Amino acid sequence: MSSLLVVNGPNLNLLGQRQPQVYGRTTLAEIEQNCIAHGQRLGCEVQCFQSNHEGALIDALHGARGVHDGIVLNAGAYTHSSIALMDAIVSVELPVVELHLSNIHARESFRHKSYIAPVAVGQICGFGAHGYILALDALKAHLDGAK
Ligand code: DQA
Repeated sequence: MSSLLVVNGPNLNLLGQRQPQVYGRTTLAEIEQNCIAHGQRLGCEVQCFQSNHEGALIDALHGARGVHDGIVLNAGAYTHSSIALMDAIVSVELPVVELHLSNIHARESFRHKSYIAPVAVGQICGFGAHGYILALDALKAHLDGAK
């Protein structure tokens, strides 16, 4: 059975309250429950992690090596700034699907740049909380294709 890790970065613990016009009203706890339930439908174990701290996110990626088969990553604003997260993804040699609730390409220009995208399998953005389900489907299909 594949094991998938869903990682959420800074400020995503405030989902549901934070700019609902941009990010929707679904809370992070609901998103995580939905991910775990969808994992069961896919025949995968899903674990979830959130931190507001760059180093803790890097530690979570490092800890995934040899434990999980792939990662769904919403790095929040670190997407647009963190070479360290990009290096961590390359270092752990696990497939990562980049995820954003909002369509980062339709927002401010500083959100158009992603340090994650060049080292990710692909990017899903603009579909709100449903994006996590799409990302898990994409990651599972990628892992099945790699077998
Ligand atoms: C986000 C988009 C980022 O630009 C922003 O900094 C976030 C959330 C999203 O899910 O749409 O914190 O990653």
